[in-house]
Amino acid sequence: MAAAGAAAAASVIPGPAGAEPVRGRRRYALVGTGIRGTTMWGRDVVQRYGDVVEFVGLCDVNPLRVEVGKRKLGVSCPTFTRLDEMLSAVKPDALIVTTVDTTHAECIVQALERGVDVITEKPMIINDAQCRTVLDAEKRTGRRVIVTFNYRYAPKHQKIKELLLGGEIGDVSSVDFSWYLDTQHGADYFRRWHRLREKGGSLWVHKASHHFDLINWWLGAEPEVVTATNSLRHYGRKGPFRSTNCRPCPHKAQCPFFWDINTKPELVELYVGPEKADGYLRDGCVFREDVNIPDTMNAVVRYSNGVNMSYSLNTFMPLEGYHLAFNGTKGRLEVRDYERQPWDPGEETEIHVVRNFGKRVKIDIPKGEGGHGGGDDRLRDLIFRNVSVPEHMRLPDSRAGAMACLTGIAALKSGDEGRPVRIKELLPA
Ligand SMILES: NC(=O)c1ccc[n+]([C@@H]2O[C@H](COP(=O)([O-])OP(=O)(O)OC[C@H]3O[C@@H](n4cnc5c(N)ncnc54)[C@H](O)[C@@H]3O)[C@@H](O)[C@H]2O)c1
Repeated sequence: MAAAGAAAAASVIPGPAGAEPVRGRRRYALVGTGIRGTTMWGRDVVQRYGDVVEFVGLCDVNPLRVEVGKRKLGVSCPTFTRLDEMLSAVKPDALIVTTVDTTHAECIVQALERGVDVITEKPMIINDAQCRTVLDAEKRTGRRVIVTFNYRYAPKHQKIKELLLGGEIGDVSSVDFSWYLDTQHGADYFRRWHRLREKGGSLWVHKASHHFDLINWWLGAEPEVVTATNSLRHYGRKGPFRSTNCRPCPHKAQCPFFWDINTKPELVELYVGPEKADGYLRDGCVFREDVNIPDTMNAVVRYSNGVNMSYSLNTFMPLEGYHLAFNGTKGRLEVRDYERQPWDPGEETEIHVVRNFGKRVKIDIPKGEGGHGGGDDRLRDLIFRNVSVPEHMRLPDSRAGAMACLTGIAALKSGDEGRPVRIKELLPA
């Protein structure tokens, strides 16, 4: 176990201080060779960052999928099915964690205890016990964890941060935030392991932690009390019929959610072949009886600066995107984001500042190219090249990871127990 103060290697993760451009290749290992691990953190990294990144090991509990992953990345490093064996054998500078959500905490702690820094996908944790374990391990070992909250790095989200920092609407008093997942993207969570709260902590954690992180960062505050409701209205046992998965389903002809994975060669290679090893069905039925997460969620969150947010997440919508408004002492900042809808909205995102007793001003938004509104590339440039960014764009740390997830964990608990939940109950100061 690496102790703080031991002769540990310097961190390869960019710190809060100014930017020193990275020169030479650093040694990364990756655990979890599913779609996210092999694309955003795999093949794309090999292609864009080959001058600064060397993959020294790949690990996945599925022995077939890890070999598919290695082919997709086009690397020659060894593969493993056990993380402890990979860490001992290859001794990376940093570990990239892209496994199923509930396993992030154990992967993070194993790496930290071997003196290895961690770049983890969200959510960092899915319950409060995992939260304490990760924060304790980071403190004990003196290594670092960063959480890849890519949404912050979309230029439109940076613009919102800068408008708020610039005092355009004065002090924020409340926030209205509604996120919509359509019957394509929203339904896809119910096909996969995300449908089980023991795997992903529910969409309160798996999905909404992105949104809660944005709010924490935009407001420069932390959540204190969460009051929420959960309901399951459309998927799981609410469906009219069901099967195990789409391929053998007798209801294909009448099911609006029928999805043919065989039309996606990349997913066939990554999931259908490797089914033999773990039985995981990527095209699972959205109406399986075992769905135990809500699909319709509402919350009120009280923040450390006195701001209240009303938030909703709906997964059965005819459109994808969000409505967001900050109400301030000098006016209102309104955002409408259109990701997918059955009409042409003209622009993908509209931002307006509406001043009290004044005018509405349209805000120009820098265009973001690539995944997640341009956030993916800008985040990777910062992680792997340590490009220069303003202070408010530095990498999200474990505290940010904890606060975003704890908001969702508190919301699920509040909905289940029918009472407000304080973040302090989950993470005493
Ligand atoms: N930031 C984003 O926008 C974004 C987008 C997509 C996914 N993600 C995150 O990326 C992660 C992976 O998502 P995905 O869609 O690729 O899922 P996936 O199911 O395709 O891949 C997960 C992989 O982890 C492996 N695995 C599970 N437990 C393991 C363990 N203990 N050790 C080693 N391997 C293990 C599985 O076999 C699988 O191959 C998730 O945490 C998800 O939240 C983030």
